[in-house]
Amino acid sequence: MQNETLSVTDNRTGRSYTLPLFQGSIRATDLRQIKVEPDDFGVMSYDPAYLNTACCQSSITYIDGDKGILLYRGYPIDVLAERNSFLEVAYLLLFGELPGPAALKVWEDDITHHTLVHENIKKFMDGFHHDAHPMGMLVSTLAALSTFYPAARHVKDHTERDLQVLRLVGKIPTIAAYAYRHSLGLPYVYPDNSLGYTQNFLNMLWKMTAPKYEGNPVLARALEVLFILHADHEQNCGTTAMRCVGSSLPDPYVTAAAAAAGLSGPLHGGANEEVLKMLDEIGSVDHIPAYIDAVKAGKFKLMGFGHRVYKNYDPRARIIKQTAEQVFAVTGRNAKLDIALELEKIALEDPYFIQRKLYPNVDFYSGIIYQAMGFSPDMFTVLFAIPRMVGWLAQWKEMLDDPEQKIARPRQIYTGRMPETAGVAPQVKNELVGV
Ligand code: CMC
Repeated sequence: MQNETLSVTDNRTGRSYTLPLFQGSIRATDLRQIKVEPDDFGVMSYDPAYLNTACCQSSITYIDGDKGILLYRGYPIDVLAERNSFLEVAYLLLFGELPGPAALKVWEDDITHHTLVHENIKKFMDGFHHDAHPMGMLVSTLAALSTFYPAARHVKDHTERDLQVLRLVGKIPTIAAYAYRHSLGLPYVYPDNSLGYTQNFLNMLWKMTAPKYEGNPVLARALEVLFILHADHEQNCGTTAMRCVGSSLPDPYVTAAAAAAGLSGPLHGGANEEVLKMLDEIGSVDHIPAYIDAVKAGKFKLMGFGHRVYKNYDPRARIIKQTAEQVFAVTGRNAKLDIALELEKIALEDPYFIQRKLYPNVDFYSGIIYQAMGFSPDMFTVLFAIPRMVGWLAQWKEMLDDPEQKIARPRQIYTGRMPETAGVAPQVKNELVGV
């Protein structure tokens, strides 16, 4: 398109610059030509928390936050959640297309055959304290896998890379289930190759003395849908950690551990656990108005509400709300749902939330479903991390193959002291600056 440029006038010098626009963006490095003196560093962009900075080009996930649209490789999330299995969606995210029957069979077999973890991983996990948070166990164990697969550091080797993808997608449910069993003091359950991805996970979690855990198919499908909804969400905090840490080319195990650490915070994937705590704290529908007043007074945030990108209803929350009804038809209604529904209703009518475009996000209802299914709140973020591993790996692979990417290394605006203002004696000053 013609005239895809931006004209910038530097009022310090009166000079004008024409900057090319690319997909509605300027390249931040184009600003560097804007200088007062020839040896100036040039203009930088300042963007704490990356509010308006694209760090990559990506063809994986599309979000229109104003319209509440989420697409994986062009497919609407509601269509995938209705029609596809989690492993089909994982394949779509990782390889760009939905698999045909033959490719799906190979993919499912490959993943199934990588679910087992080394026996020493069991011993490693035994070392955790009985009340260790499962997310802490997951982050540490993902990093520990690095020591079992030294060849994984050859991240530019596509064969090695693909093998680690299979291992990470295959093993993360096993590690998650081991973390859960460890916290309950129960023996670990080995993966069962005759079961599908989510059924196998449920079996590793809840099998007792019977030969197999017979999961309710409605609950198994609900978990599958939740996995699909959580699989990727473009450049969020955890994924950005994956890309940023991965850019220095460490192996994907330590890289994924960094991403999982990013996810674990209460403002990100840890919010689902916080929502449950919040609903417990509210206790009953009568207490909601006072709670909302406290939120508006800035005492705390309404957990499970608001999003950096969505300024409309999160499409995942809409699907989760429907899934909740299906789950409760099996498990019986979770009393917290009534508090959540009323909280949502009041919040959506309140000018504070309307003006700030704060809607329920994916974490608002997911915890209530997980609890109804029998998970304890400290497992909720682990349940988010299992499917998100697929998104992290898809983004990591894309980053490694992108010729424009280099080691991530932002700039800063230094606001500290310089020797001239630090009150140091001139001779010491010279030593400090290495003169
Ligand atoms: N409750 C009350 N006020 C809120 C909330 C909330 N949940 N979220 C944002 N605000 C207010 C915020 O105080 C600010 O008000 P003001 O303009 O008066 O200062 C305004 O809305 C804009 O918020 P912000 O903090 O600039 O928004 P952000 O884009 O930096 O933060 C967020 C996004 C998700 C971190 C934030 O909305 C939040 O903390 N929500 C609660 C935690 C949560 O549910 N996180 C899960 C996010 S979705 C799943 C995921 O991706 O992990």
